[in-house]
Amino acid sequence: MCAAVHTVTASNARILSSLKSPPNVVVVGGTSGIGRAMAISIAKHCPAANVTIIGRNEAAAKEIVPQLGANGEFIRADVSLMTEIRTAAQKINAVDILVLSQGILTMAGRTPTAENLDNKLALHYYGRVLFVQELLPLLRSSPNGGKVLFVLHSNRGNLSKINWNDMALENSYSVSSAAIHATSFTDLVIQHFASQPENVNITFTHAYPGFVKTPLVDNLPFAARVGAKLLMAVGIGISPEDCAEYMVHGMLGTEKGYRYVDNKGETITNKTPAEPEMIEKVWEHTSQMISAR
Ligand SMILES: NC(=O)c1ccc[n+]([C@@H]2O[C@H](COP(=O)([O-])OP(=O)(O)OC[C@H]3O[C@@H](n4cnc5c(N)ncnc54)[C@H](OP(=O)(O)O)[C@@H]3O)[C@@H](O)[C@H]2O)c1
Repeated sequence: MCAAVHTVTASNARILSSLKSPPNVVVVGGTSGIGRAMAISIAKHCPAANVTIIGRNEAAAKEIVPQLGANGEFIRADVSLMTEIRTAAQKINAVDILVLSQGILTMAGRTPTAENLDNKLALHYYGRVLFVQELLPLLRSSPNGGKVLFVLHSNRGNLSKINWNDMALENSYSVSSAAIHATSFTDLVIQHFASQPENVNITFTHAYPGFVKTPLVDNLPFAARVGAKLLMAVGIGISPEDCAEYMVHGMLGTEKGYRYVDNKGETITNKTPAEPEMIEKVWEHTSQMISAR
């Protein structure tokens, strides 16, 4: 049976408030929704934490930073662009916890960024990996043991549906193939990162937040947006604040290597094991795509 939110909240508070050194926390996508709620929750549980949020919305950041304790910060960046991610990462001097919660919900077809990556894949996958890669040296030297959380969809990936001949989906893009690639590649890339001996003190968690009442649905076409809002109005979905506690619980509960967690932060056990060649191929493709930009 999964724990109630108040139990999980108390456990998060106990763990975060008793860390020997206050954590340096970076929340990408921390200006809204789940990322915002996670940044505020961590700062509440550990007021001495240094919490930095990253996003584009400066007005939202102005409202959030005062809730992050004395050491809250905002870095403005368009994280669909690899060049902006590199610049943002250079502004960070220490990181123990990295939360990757940037994203969009759209039914649009392939939408190239100025760097010719699909916008959604850049946000949900390539840019997240680049953040990890850029911040790995800092995560490795974390005295608490670095923690990386991917907030995406840990039970959507399907290794048998990866299009190995068009991994960036430049010629075969669809909304569902983009979702399958972003989630399956995340499943595989955390295995790659965890397998590197230099990363032995870092844990990598891929989480599914569930249906969360955030502004994510605001850019959907009218009918889908109204449908989503109606579901929220009748009580379907959970608040970003409750979700944040489950996500923090899942992240803190990953004690070694990599793990997939569900919307309660509990381990998902029915994942299909990956072939080592798949992990290698995804890593080769990803590093080539991000280093070319
Ligand atoms: N909510 C759900 O039910 C649900 C379900 C499954 C998965 N998820 C996943 O969970 C993640 C968080 O979702 P959410 O519900 O919290 O969404 P949200 O409230 O819309 O927040 C999305 C965040 O992503 C940032 N972002 C988007 N595009 C960006 C860009 N180009 N540059 C910089 N930041 C950008 C936004 O910041 P700015 O606006 O400041 O740029 C915002 O902070 C997403 O990846 C989503 O796919 C959510």
